[in-house]
Amino acid sequence: MKPRLVVTRTMPEAVVARAIADYETHFLDIEGRFGADKFLAALVGASAALVTPADRIDAGLIARIPACVKVIGTFSVGTDHIDLAAARGRGLAVVNTPDVLSFATAELALTLMLMAVRRAGEGERVVRALGWKGWTPNFMLGTSLEGKTLGILGMGRIGQALAPIARGLSMRVIYHNRRRLRPDLEQGAVFHAEEADFLGACDVLSIHLPGGAATRHWLNAGRIARIRPGAIVVNTGRGATIDDDALIAALVSGRIAAAGLDVFAEEPAVPSGYLVLENVVLLPHLGSATRETRVAMGLLALDGIDAVLAGRAAASRVV
Ligand code: DGY
Repeated sequence: MKPRLVVTRTMPEAVVARAIADYETHFLDIEGRFGADKFLAALVGASAALVTPADRIDAGLIARIPACVKVIGTFSVGTDHIDLAAARGRGLAVVNTPDVLSFATAELALTLMLMAVRRAGEGERVVRALGWKGWTPNFMLGTSLEGKTLGILGMGRIGQALAPIARGLSMRVIYHNRRRLRPDLEQGAVFHAEEADFLGACDVLSIHLPGGAATRHWLNAGRIARIRPGAIVVNTGRGATIDDDALIAALVSGRIAAAGLDVFAEEPAVPSGYLVLENVVLLPHLGSATRETRVAMGLLALDGIDAVLAGRAAASRVV
């Protein structure tokens, strides 16, 4: 008999096919808000669950997960939506999807950077509103990324994927991280151990921090005051790492020239202060949203679940 797997959200076709082939799969196809009671009811008799970053698996819920469930796979590299300590305490394994989404997320960080410096969102809105009066030398001028300094905050896999792309645009790359990388991973990016030096050198700050209490509101008014005036801020990590009130105030004053944000603390809600600003690009958490990447994520999550249930080591095991 196949083990039972509960899948919270609709998955790419190839992932569905593999899940059905290997498991007695129960698809909840949740849209919008995650319902813990529905999830728990489906878990009766299950060995595993495949969840997403939109599903909050907190300590209270973990305490109610039936003992037959041995592993939770998350369709994400981020794990801040799961209480890992509670999972560890309950002996519940957690596997995620590292590596396979790094390039796609780096691509999206670049998209946001370009949109922000070249005012692409604003320009598109003008065209759609039939407000474009024609070409003039001073119309809607932005700035170039060429020769500018990109500061990568959090030089993990995604930051490391972004660095060579930025160099292709003739940007200088610096980074701030808990520790310095090996030279072969740095590939010429310059490490700044001191946060203040790092912030003062950034023309573009790209944030790649994990979520969680340790990084909450990392970008606050104090740190914004240390960034080079007129810099651009891009975030494809987790929304809660930015103090939105502080960033909105800096965008209004022009202290930060523009921002590109793909992630928000209370998704899908977006702070209203951003919605009225022309100098912020807002995307609906699209970092890993390519067909190729989403299939790879699903298959990797299933690899991890398979491995745990078979008693094998899983490289993607977090707990
Ligand atoms: C992740 O994997 O954590 C991403 O945020 C999903 O795109």
